[in-house]
Amino acid sequence: MKNREDIICGYHILEVLGSGGQGTVYLAEHEVLQRKYALKYAYGAEREQLRREADVMKALTDRRIPYLVDQIETKDVSVLVMEYVEGIGLDAYLKERVPLEEDKALALLQQITEIAAYLHEQKGIVAHRDLKPANFVIAKDGSLHLLDFGTALTGMESLHRHDTCGTPGYAAPEQMQGGRSGMEADVYAIGAMYAYMLTGIEPTLPPFHPAGADEWPDSVSVESKALLKEALDPVKEKRPQDAVCLLEKIEAVKKRKRLLWPVLERMLYQTILVMDTMTASVLVWLRYRETPVERAEMICGGITLVVLLWCALRGMFGPKRRFVVAREWNVTYTAKEMWGL
Ligand SMILES: Nc1ncnc2c1ncn2[C@@H]1O[C@H](COP(=O)(O)OP(=O)(O)O)[C@@H](O)[C@H]1O
Ligand SMILES: [Mg+2]
Repeated sequence: MKNREDIICGYHILEVLGSGGQGTVYLAEHEVLQRKYALKYAYGAEREQLRREADVMKALTDRRIPYLVDQIETKDVSVLVMEYVEGIGLDAYLKERVPLEEDKALALLQQITEIAAYLHEQKGIVAHRDLKPANFVIAKDGSLHLLDFGTALTGMESLHRHDTCGTPGYAAPEQMQGGRSGMEADVYAIGAMYAYMLTGIEPTLPPFHPAGADEWPDSVSVESKALLKEALDPVKEKRPQDAVCLLEKIEAVKKRKRLLWPVLERMLYQTILVMDTMTASVLVWLRYRETPVERAEMICGGITLVVLLWCALRGMFGPKRRFVVAREWNVTYTAKEMWGL
């Protein structure tokens, strides 16, 4: 907290929200507006970087990225005032839950990639270059938000800038080697996050790289494994070139998974129903042939037949439902398309 006043330009500092490589972020309340904001402080050489961060952020208007409120410059310090996203860090959220089931990991992967795709689609093309769970927050309404544009580059810069940046474990090889890095580096980091979600192996610990193919669980689908392989390719030209391409591949993985399993499930379910119906019919028929049938037996057999036929018809033509399988932090996971149940 060195050099920091408890109040700056009407913002009362309340507590530390977090600190990383590029300064400390405080929670503050504006004395007139009575609203809370996040204030990111930078001193000395880091001030220039904070100004660059502000330049990138002011061009972004998506609700999943904190909006810039103010930029304060005093003799000693630069302060970036931004929207406060109240929630839980994705790093803390995942720490308690990894390894995740593939469907949950895929749903999160999609949300992460959608935000990155928004950046990569901007006119000036923005690469974040430090995507990792600690830079995402899950807000109270369950939506995911991306923070920390300290290492972000616009498209023109990424054409000629060589630097070492990012977080070991999530940073692509070209970032660690001080080469030119851009959107493909974001794709790599997203791949590293997916590997972490599926395996629980923390890439920010030695040996500082994402879990390799031999560590991915057998239960993970071949489609997801192929996606991981592509995203984590050490050669940046071989990766999907931006998050928009990656998003298309994620959609394809989801579609293939969705197509295969429910069809098999539906076939199995309907086969059982048909066999049940036939067995019940044969039993009733045999009973009827052998001896004069008791009235009660006929009624029971008849009811069984009607119920089974109804189930079979519903299975074939009935509505496809969604079932809530888990609800956490207002994020609802649903299993789709369970035919006939
Ligand atoms: N707008 C914000 N709302 C809520 N928390 C924030 C916000 N900005 C930063 N934080 C918290 O502060 C931490 C550090 O901020 P970050 O911008 O990532 O700084 P650094 O560049 O030092 O890593 C984040 O991990 C997060 O916990
Ligand atoms: Mg950070």
